[in-house]
Amino acid sequence: MAQDNSELSELRQQTKTRQTILEMITRKFAVEDEGLKDALQAAKHAGLPEIQISPLQGKFLQFLAVACNAQSILEIGSLGGYSGIWLARALPANGHFITLEINPTHAELVRNAFARAGVSDRAEVRVGKALDLLPLLEHEAPFDLIFIDADKPPYPQYLDWAMRLSRPGSIIAADNCIRNGKGFEEPQDEGMAGIVAYNNRIATDPHLISLDLAMDDDYTDGFAVSVVRP
Ligand code: SAH
Ligand code: DHB
Ligand code: MG
Repeated sequence: MAQDNSELSELRQQTKTRQTILEMITRKFAVEDEGLKDALQAAKHAGLPEIQISPLQGKFLQFLAVACNAQSILEIGSLGGYSGIWLARALPANGHFITLEINPTHAELVRNAFARAGVSDRAEVRVGKALDLLPLLEHEAPFDLIFIDADKPPYPQYLDWAMRLSRPGSIIAADNCIRNGKGFEEPQDEGMAGIVAYNNRIATDPHLISLDLAMDDDYTDGFAVSVVRP
């Protein structure tokens, strides 16, 4: 028993160490500006679930956007505009960001958050079911970066659209692809089925080079990232 307790306290210490390291990296590299803080507060005030990406993930999306010299970015799933502000801020002044959102209440919050963050000149919300809106984007393609973060069952279909709306060198990122390891196991529900299929697709599709990066929720969740091969 004494041994169990010391093992437990060692595990707790390790968890704390990992959390502290993430906090240290966040404080150094992913400090939220007023626009981001404001978007979070407004979303919380409106009762939205707190399921936005982490600040580190936001900074990583900016990193990816700059790495591929993004002028046009597409997001699927806006929530309160938090990830959208990170992404829009990575664009040049003449860049364009489009985010797709099924919930009109969310979309209205996003519009207001974009205005207060000063990115309305380059950032736009379109309201509707993503699978209905994506076919309408073909004349605005290719997008340099596509970020998938909406409902999970259609993740493989979102990947099809992302590849269709991209160019060689475009980056496709998808949130929540690890899910404490469930992203690689036999799926127990529709949402996980979408994510498992997504991982299988990006791991084997010869048109992509991909991997999953555990950087969220104490390294138990994170992005899948893919580059469309030349
Ligand atoms: N990217 C956001 C979090 C998105 S949460 C951030 O990090 O800040 C997922 C969002 O996707 C929710 O707002 C939800 O309403 C939206 N959504 C769910 N199903 C959708 C669908 N079929 N089409 C478009 N948006 C959808
Ligand atoms: C959920 C959705 C997300 O996109 C996320 O990052 C975390 C949780 C959810 O639907 O529970
Ligand atoms: Mg997510």
